[in-house]
Amino acid sequence: MQPSYRVVRRVTEDPDSERKRLIEGLTATRPSLSPKYFYDELGCALYGAICQLPEYYPTRIERSIFETHRDAIAQTAGENKQFVDLGAGDCRKAQDWFPFVLPRRYLAVDIAGPEIESALARLSIEVPDMELLGVEMDFSASLDLNDLLTNDAATFFYPGSSIGNFAPAEALAFLLRIFALCATRPGSGLLIGVDAKKPVPTLVAAYDDALGVTAAFNRNVLLHLNRRFGFDFDLNGFCHRGLYNEAEGRIEMHLESLREQVVSLGAGHHRSFRVGERIHTENSYKYTATEFADLLAKAGFSDVSRWTDRDEQFNVFYAR
Ligand code: TRP
Repeated sequence: MQPSYRVVRRVTEDPDSERKRLIEGLTATRPSLSPKYFYDELGCALYGAICQLPEYYPTRIERSIFETHRDAIAQTAGENKQFVDLGAGDCRKAQDWFPFVLPRRYLAVDIAGPEIESALARLSIEVPDMELLGVEMDFSASLDLNDLLTNDAATFFYPGSSIGNFAPAEALAFLLRIFALCATRPGSGLLIGVDAKKPVPTLVAAYDDALGVTAAFNRNVLLHLNRRFGFDFDLNGFCHRGLYNEAEGRIEMHLESLREQVVSLGAGHHRSFRVGERIHTENSYKYTATEFADLLAKAGFSDVSRWTDRDEQFNVFYAR
């Protein structure tokens, strides 16, 4: 068989309204940015580096849970014909599951089109018998996948505690959409990794590492915006802040202005920043096992299994 794959682009927003939304966010009283802008080519590489940092425990602990319980998890999921990877990136986390869940079709969904493109090119040689479909999509906006799925049972795979990057109400809305896709395909389910609440120093170190990789990842968003939208952020004018908001149960990422400055946002738009003023770039909510099981139940999932590490630092759920 000729190695092959295809990639469809599902970009819901046109460039003009995208620019408008960005400027609205940046000129608001409390400026913010959509986290989707982290993932340009350099951002994807930096995220790959974050996952290798000694302080960034989620990837490592999740991997150890997967490795320890691979058979049990695969048995719970069953041999689903479709494997839907949400936030696929380089597709390697999903690939580890292929020998255990034996999917016939693999859907790699991610905002980073070029990254899934090259990952699928590699997979088309390494797993030539699988149907490979890439979907370039911002699935935080909508999960418009129904027409790309067959009626066969599917495993939805959402690792890395990316669910924590949604606010709880949005996380629930997202889980409801996955549940709807599962409900019309009997035998389907969701395999998801969720970071747990834990002592603050451990959490903060994971998002403010000694090497400064997370800082580079966060600040790179400004480079990306300058290049794509013609803004003129001075990288030296902003530093990384990663802090834990105890009341909200979330890590917050900010870019903090180091001096008084005015940034041009193109087409006559500007934003001035005072010293210490922050752009909120990302949240990473942490859930106790009970909190997250409750969220899954609210979304409609009635059968939930959980696997964890010895210290219960991270939880893996299979829900259907
Ligand atoms: N899903 C990851 C998390 O919340 C993404 C992430 C890791 C991240 N480090 C980051 C996002 C730093 C923004 C900034 O853990």
